[in-house]
Amino acid sequence: MNDRRVHEPFIFAALAIALTAGFGYAAIIVAALAFNWNLGVWWIAMVQAHGHAQLFGWAGLFILGVGLFFLPRLRGTTLARAELAPWALTLIVVGIALRALSQPLLAFLEASMPQGSLYAALGRSGYAVSGILELMGVLLIVTMLVTSFRRARPLTPSAPIIPVRPYLATALVSLILAALLNAALTVATTLLGGDLFPSALDDALTHLLIYGFILPIAFALSIRNLPLFMRLAFPPNRELFPILVSYVAGMLLRLTAQLEQPFGIDSPIAVWLGGTGAMLEGGAILVFVWQLDVLLRRKTPWIASRTPPPADYIETRKPTRKNYPDYGEFGRFELLIISAYAWLAFAGAMAIADGIGRILGNPALLNPDIERHAITVGFITLLIFGMATRMLPGFSGKSRIASPRLVLATFWFGNLAALFRVAPLFAPSIAGANLALGSSGALGWLAVACLAANLWRTMRQK
Ligand code: HEM
Repeated sequence: MNDRRVHEPFIFAALAIALTAGFGYAAIIVAALAFNWNLGVWWIAMVQAHGHAQLFGWAGLFILGVGLFFLPRLRGTTLARAELAPWALTLIVVGIALRALSQPLLAFLEASMPQGSLYAALGRSGYAVSGILELMGVLLIVTMLVTSFRRARPLTPSAPIIPVRPYLATALVSLILAALLNAALTVATTLLGGDLFPSALDDALTHLLIYGFILPIAFALSIRNLPLFMRLAFPPNRELFPILVSYVAGMLLRLTAQLEQPFGIDSPIAVWLGGTGAMLEGGAILVFVWQLDVLLRRKTPWIASRTPPPADYIETRKPTRKNYPDYGEFGRFELLIISAYAWLAFAGAMAIADGIGRILGNPALLNPDIERHAITVGFITLLIFGMATRMLPGFSGKSRIASPRLVLATFWFGNLAALFRVAPLFAPSIAGANLALGSSGALGWLAVACLAANLWRTMRQK
């Protein structure tokens, strides 16, 4: 496969999954929740299938596609063993499709014909192999990245990858562990004749994917790219490692607390571990946002000249947009990135509040869905929208995004989806809360559709 276009099928697969099992299922389950339809096992099965498709398919494939293109270049080399990329993509996409179809199907069949049928047997086989296929795909991707890094020339002290290496290592290790756990759970659940993952392990898997894989790699890509795209200062290298250490410590504490639940439900030690972990994670997120400086722009941009130009200097280049190095050819992509980081800061504050609530003995202070969807819809999805708009045209040799107006539409639909998904959880009984919640999935779907149409037109332009 052509190394320069390796990312494109990953991006289009991520969009296709988002528009079906990701935001498509989301629109159904959230409407069912808001309007109190019959929430049986089918609903929980669809929730798990939706979470899986969003994390492995929408965010996962998007990040892996961008990673295969960008990370070898960041290391000063090209992608090794690029011929494995289509195999990896096929394995992961087939795995996600099998899981998205078989999990709800099994739950429907169980409710309607408990004796079992040929369809149930097919569903079970699909469910069991889905996790194994995804694991194989993930291992191929990690092989490609690690081989590329090992074939590269030795690192110099100023190599651009150095400050973000621990973030990338955290992400890759978490991805492998999550893919292993997911494969083990699909096989074990099938062998035990069930169709749902046990909730504590399901929560731990979700946490590992969001906090262990997606956030650290999103942080690494932000550290390297946002100062260039948004004319910011580079975050100080010496701060990045301590932030990661406290973040990972918080994540491990929270994971331990989640895994302890099956053995001693909410034991005092689990409450303490979970509370401290949430505060550490949330605190590290807030310090990271502060250091990246996307929201407040306190620091002098890296590009600012420290010596004033001579008195007779005449600027002959066309001026760029105020505060940005572009001429508007990527639309208002910065609105997507700024709002993503505002959502992340909010989620960090929610994690701290959750931790304080736990330690003070009130674990149910906040619905955990507030933090989860502030991060997944608010931060991850809006950041993907912003990065896709700004980076992908260049990756594919294009100099502009096809439609700046669609970028604005993505911004409005995406932020409304996040707001309507999260805000009603604070006050579910006020007027309009259910209507807002119930429409959030459809709004998210529209936001992805706007991005997909824009990227499709961009890739086809001459
Ligand atoms: C506006 C769009 C979205 C809507 C309407 C939506 C809706 C839902 C609903 C109703 C639940 C069940 C909550 C509960 O148990 O009370 C859920 C769970 C979940 N969602 Fe979303 N979601 C959206 C976007 C996303 C995105 C973008 C991601 C990830 C990138 C995501 C990841 C998850 C995960 C991991 C779970 C938990 C699944 C599990 O329990 O196994 N969601 N979502």
